[in-house]
Amino acid sequence: MNTSRPIRKAVLPAAGFGTRFLPITKAIPKEMLPVGDKPVIHYVVEEAVAAGCTDILLVVSRDKASIQDYFDRAPELEGRLRAAGKEAQADELVRIASQARFHYVRQPEMKGLGDAVWQARDHVGDEPFALLLADTLIVDRAHQPGRGDAVAALMAAYAQTGHSAVAVEPVAAERIHRYGVVGGREEAEGRFALNCMVEKPGPAEAPRILRLNGRPDPGGWAFAARYLFTPRIFAHLARTQPGKNGEIQLTDAMAALMAEEGFAGCRLPGRRLDIGDAAGLLEANHLLAGR
Ligand code: UTP
Repeated sequence: MNTSRPIRKAVLPAAGFGTRFLPITKAIPKEMLPVGDKPVIHYVVEEAVAAGCTDILLVVSRDKASIQDYFDRAPELEGRLRAAGKEAQADELVRIASQARFHYVRQPEMKGLGDAVWQARDHVGDEPFALLLADTLIVDRAHQPGRGDAVAALMAAYAQTGHSAVAVEPVAAERIHRYGVVGGREEAEGRFALNCMVEKPGPAEAPRILRLNGRPDPGGWAFAARYLFTPRIFAHLARTQPGKNGEIQLTDAMAALMAEEGFAGCRLPGRRLDIGDAAGLLEANHLLAGR
């Protein structure tokens, strides 16, 4: 595969039930909950676009029409705003809908993240693509969201190694059991060659990263919601059997892909804000207040 060709396609899974955020997610997708005056997914789309993705596939479900409405044009409303002299507001609505080509696919049953990515196979075809979890923001050191640095780092790792890549961040030992955790070796500052991936490991099975200084870290390194895959991921997803919780685990297919092709890890530039529950949403609103 020609690794110098720019990666233009991004997939954003947004079909999950959001059970950690019930009861509001019974009627409102968690990806549409507000951080400031914009929904969470607005920032994730801007991040993909900032990294150079021009083709965005949103994986949705039957109750998520509001996501499609948000990224669609609204000519009547735009006309009303322009008639009232509110040109800037109208221009912003046009910009949101025109910043990329938006496509949608429905996940028929919520069978897990691996199954959500599997729904993208026809649209993606035989190309590498970025995957951004639509319920997670990445902010830089100044707490600015929507920058493409994490995905850009994955693209650079792919261009250099030809391997799929995942953003990883350090987690304390006592929190490792909550995440997908990786093991491997640091090859250059913040760049890892991975050799192990385990979803929500117990303390005994948690893999380790060997750092450049020759020592393992006391804690672990966990997936940080941003990925870049070669299209071979679909061959492995096709064979992945339901794992923990009866869901198709993306981590299982990633581990098989790693064994076949190799896999890079990139230290997440910035910080991850998981909006999967009320505490995460409150923290994001607190950090981004006033933007
Ligand atoms: P999560 O596991 O955080 O979402 O998946 P969830 O399943 O909706 O949340 P809980 O655990 O029930 O509270 C991360 C992203 O993957 C999507 C979600 O919408 C979220 O953006 N996802 C998850 C799917 O698209 N399909 C699925 O079957 C599961």
